[in-house]
Amino acid sequence: MGGVTPSAATVKKRLSMNETHTFPPALLGMRAVVTGGAQGIGAAICWGLKLAGADVVVADQQGEKAREIAARLGSCGGLALAVTADVSTNEGCQNVITTAVSALGGLDILINCAAPGRDKLLLGKLSPVDWDLHQKIVLDASVMLADFASEHLAVSGRGVIVNISSVTASSIAIDQCSWPYHVSKAGLDQLTRWLAVRFGAHGIRVNAVSPGLVDRDIGHKLSDNLEYRSIIEAVVPLRRAGTGEDIAKAVVFLSSIQASYITGQVLTVDGGLGVNEVFGAALKAHQIGKKLPVGSTA
Ligand SMILES: NC(=O)c1ccc[n+]([C@@H]2O[C@H](COP(=O)([O-])OP(=O)(O)OC[C@H]3O[C@@H](n4cnc5c(N)ncnc54)[C@H](O)[C@@H]3O)[C@@H](O)[C@H]2O)c1
Repeated sequence: MGGVTPSAATVKKRLSMNETHTFPPALLGMRAVVTGGAQGIGAAICWGLKLAGADVVVADQQGEKAREIAARLGSCGGLALAVTADVSTNEGCQNVITTAVSALGGLDILINCAAPGRDKLLLGKLSPVDWDLHQKIVLDASVMLADFASEHLAVSGRGVIVNISSVTASSIAIDQCSWPYHVSKAGLDQLTRWLAVRFGAHGIRVNAVSPGLVDRDIGHKLSDNLEYRSIIEAVVPLRRAGTGEDIAKAVVFLSSIQASYITGQVLTVDGGLGVNEVFGAALKAHQIGKKLPVGSTA
């Protein structure tokens, strides 16, 4: 590569040439439910699973948005439907699994993606006010859903659970996420390992996907902000924020037979962010913030 750093435009061009927006039909005949599927990464996962051939239930407390996504998924063929449910409650979790099993005739894949909204006012504070929500939606819901789903996932002997974690499970983003977010995601990683051991004998594989910086499909994207974009290009080796589709591809892989001997793992999908040497990356981002002349090496 001769020390040449490709420009962001070159990286984008290369990505768009490689990007087919299709998924191999790795999940034909499989039946999936996605919590938090009405928007963002959850909606992208619904699309990934559907395009890979699965029938999909979109489970979310935002009923109208979930129904919209399900209607669009259904237009691609196969089954897709929405269930309006609050997974912070036992009844909500039971409703998600019962509805999915009766509508799809069984269940092969459970994706736990729902998470509380990130309240900027709580950043950096030690206040416990949003712990309850994180405990209920990130941890308790994943346990209850796994419990209600397990007997159905065990039927085929190839059931799958994928929990959507975060790189903040193992590193601290103090200005981006509250402590309950960090701690609940760390708990989710360990829950993933525990469930993998508990369910292994039933042929149920349990893994997690851990996204880094991901552009959201609502509101402002990280990459739309020029300052953020130059920092992302400095600290992420692949020189861009992730997309919901990047995360969906990892989820489809882990749900498929291609991952038949993988369980209890946390797959990081962060463009290399986590392996970058921290001081060097931060210094470079800082210098870019000070608008170094183009071509300066950091
Ligand atoms: N966006 C990122 O950069 C990023 C990075 C790392 C990890 N993640 C993780 O990916 C997942 C999706 O993130 P996102 O940014 O797309 O989130 P989002 O906030 O856009 O979507 C979350 C969805 O969960 C639903 N939800 C929340 N509470 C619920 C409840 N009690 N019952 C049912 N549904 C509920 C919401 O209605 C929403 O549709 C989350 O688990 C998040 O922690 C996101």
